[in-house]
Amino acid sequence: MSFVLNPNLDRERPYGDAEQAVISLAEYERAAAVIRSWPDYNPTPLHSLPGLAADLGVGELWLKNESGRFGLGSFKALGGAYGVLRVLERELGEGACELSHTVTVTSATDGNHGRSVAWGARNHGCACVIYLPEHVTDRRVAEIAAFGARTVRVQGTYDEAVALADADARHNGWYVVSDTSYEGYHEVPRWVMHGYSVMVDELLGQMPGGVRPTHVFLQGGVGGLAATVCGHLWELDGAVRPVLTIVEPEEADGLYQSAVAGEPSHAAGSLHSIMGGLSCREISPLAWTVLAPGVDAFMTAEEERIKPLMRRLAEGRDGDVAVVAGESGVAGLAGLERVASEPSLRSALRLEADARVLAIVTEGATDTESYQRIVGRAAAEVAPSH
Ligand SMILES: Cc1ncc(COP(=O)(O)O)c(C=O)c1O
Repeated sequence: MSFVLNPNLDRERPYGDAEQAVISLAEYERAAAVIRSWPDYNPTPLHSLPGLAADLGVGELWLKNESGRFGLGSFKALGGAYGVLRVLERELGEGACELSHTVTVTSATDGNHGRSVAWGARNHGCACVIYLPEHVTDRRVAEIAAFGARTVRVQGTYDEAVALADADARHNGWYVVSDTSYEGYHEVPRWVMHGYSVMVDELLGQMPGGVRPTHVFLQGGVGGLAATVCGHLWELDGAVRPVLTIVEPEEADGLYQSAVAGEPSHAAGSLHSIMGGLSCREISPLAWTVLAPGVDAFMTAEEERIKPLMRRLAEGRDGDVAVVAGESGVAGLAGLERVASEPSLRSALRLEADARVLAIVTEGATDTESYQRIVGRAAAEVAPSH
């Protein structure tokens, strides 16, 4: 396990132009107006888990549960589909969507983002090609294909899939809708993050009495999710925003390595992790603009914590509601569990017995077979309306 207090943190710094250019309340408003008008839009629930909070020695534990988001099973449903829409508007003009069949969008994915892009493409009437690295299960590929997308298996990692999608898009005149930024490609990943911000606004509105969490533990892949939450809270609350910790797999610790190096860096490990959605070598430089000065701590979570946490949430023990949570969806909680068990880490983060902690279950049973193998029951038996 690695843990570092962010050496680049600048808590007093106002939310400035550089950060606003990545994620802002103004862009949240625009995304919210669109996404809340989509058929089937419903806020996902925020649960209080007093049983688990007591076990962890914190005052309250809140879980935002993204397992039911648009029936796609993860928060990513908000981002990719909104990115597709903004690309169509850019290319065809607002309201010219009768021409959308002339457009092809493409993306690389570990699963969840591609599902969102494929769903968005189907809803908005354009063609879609999705690139998947070799570690993604056949079931996830089939679910993306079910939205009418063409799927391409890449014999390599997520980062190699990103590169291939980009090269093929250039060659074929397609439009990349990626959740990660890279050199020369920044506009669309910003839109994707704007889509995620709808979730942040929802959860703040769901906290009883408008109270804020004191601590937030968030899983990190390329960093888009964490930058969205960080930026939104920073712009709203400035220096008194919650203490934010990013949690990554030990073998895919690109954000942790970037914090240590003080600049965007690569993950040092093998990328092999049960948390497939977080398995990437490169981080999003755009996200890093917000994360570098804005996040309090970076850490990794041990693989062994993931399955027991999934089972614990499925049980709904000690009066807690049962929650369907996928492998990548519990990474933030795994980080919290480790911090809570170690006095030196607790004091580094000022995690006291009265802390109000927020974590986001960013995915439900997005791979149904794997979920059933781990938990011993199908998701529908755990929580019928997950
Ligand atoms: C379920 C889940 N949670 C969290 C993340 C992390 O998001 P990001 O890559 O924006 O850091 C992902 C990324 O794919 C994911 O699929």
